[in-house]
Amino acid sequence: MSNTPFVNQNIKPINTTRNKKGNLEISKCDVVELAKKYGTPLYVIDEITLTKMASDFINAFSRYKKTKITYASKALMTSSIAKILANMGLGFDVVSIGEIYTLLNAGIDLSKTSFNGNNKSIEEIEFAIDNKIDHFSADSIDELKILNKIAKQKNITQKIHLRVNPRIECHTHEYIQTGQIDSKFGIDIEKIEDVVKLILDEYKNLELVGLHAHIGSQIFETNVFRDEISILLNKIKILNEKFNIKLNELNLGGGYGVKYIESDNPPSIYDFANAIINSIEENCKKLNLDYPILYIEPGRSLVCNSGVTLYTVGNEKNIEGIKKYITIDGGMADNIRPSLYQAEYSAEIANNKNENKPEKVDVAGKFCESGDVLIRNIELNQPQKGDILCVYGTGAYCYSMSSNYNRMLKSAMILINDGKSEIIVKRQTLEDLVSNDIVLERLK
Ligand SMILES: Cc1ncc(COP(=O)(O)O)c(C=O)c1O
Repeated sequence: MSNTPFVNQNIKPINTTRNKKGNLEISKCDVVELAKKYGTPLYVIDEITLTKMASDFINAFSRYKKTKITYASKALMTSSIAKILANMGLGFDVVSIGEIYTLLNAGIDLSKTSFNGNNKSIEEIEFAIDNKIDHFSADSIDELKILNKIAKQKNITQKIHLRVNPRIECHTHEYIQTGQIDSKFGIDIEKIEDVVKLILDEYKNLELVGLHAHIGSQIFETNVFRDEISILLNKIKILNEKFNIKLNELNLGGGYGVKYIESDNPPSIYDFANAIINSIEENCKKLNLDYPILYIEPGRSLVCNSGVTLYTVGNEKNIEGIKKYITIDGGMADNIRPSLYQAEYSAEIANNKNENKPEKVDVAGKFCESGDVLIRNIELNQPQKGDILCVYGTGAYCYSMSSNYNRMLKSAMILINDGKSEIIVKRQTLEDLVSNDIVLERLK
């Protein structure tokens, strides 16, 4: 049982322990048995941890009554995961027709959904409007133009936020920073007044209700959110006065950091919430603004630490005096993050080893890329062929970024809860793999 009530500060799912056999157990499920039953690689999501993370957010923001939590689906989107979060009252931030379709497939309407993204297609915009999406976060003037055109054709007024780039740099990996000046996302905050004038003058089928920004991911400081709030609320004040409008929605995006390795020290969700709420209250008082409706879009921090991936250890390569590799039956196709931006993970051997003899190894994936090393320099207890390796913190941006590189099959995902396990995503089959391939007649 974990000592800390804040899941984002825990590497492992809550209720992770060793059972009488000495095997790793999560939520009363023997991890070695799970690997045997469902095969590896296997994504495992602990429902108790997942719902605890969601209720941490709900509770932490409950004192600001105007909060709307829209889960950033990009972190992990499957029909059952979406349904669990929707049942808890959460809304969704989506960025594609595929994410929208998954919500609809799970029986979730789009009344609490916002559509983000820097290049939405006409098909996606029409599909979202036809399915009554709550609002769009418009990312560019090009998008405003097409949104207005489609809304006009459909004879509706579409609610929108403007995605702005607030020019904030936060200390995270450059690929997951999004608010700095040269980011591909959002309209420069300095140009927003011209854009608002354009909307009011020309885009009569759009109703602008608020501003949206997302400054980065895996953020470990609360001050950048204070900066973001101050910049956005000051801009809202200027826009309201200059154009005699009443913008009263503020979307701060996501980005709340989580613990992957021991040296990570993220603030708790409560610390983030308090900093955000206090800053909104302070700024609104100073600027004489009504309290806005607050949207937050947590992705990683809602799902990351509820997930682990199980692998079977395979061949080893010992480079005498230099390093030892152990290999696993997965790698960059089920978790691209270490190769993409040097993300770090914690892991342990799940099966019982009787005694503790840690050995320093690199955990290499099985894909044809030298960069396919999942974890470097990790101490594992006598890793051997056939062992089950449990990698922690894989709930976010692993399955959602997975691929069929090397024509490997995508892994299954199971949901566990208090001794029960259920498949929520089936393992791909070889038939699935070729199901969209066409062997041209003329080549036969
Ligand atoms: C607009 C927007 N909102 C929310 C998120 C979620 O971020 P995180 O998973 O760090 O909470 C992202 C991530 O890229 C994003 O681009």
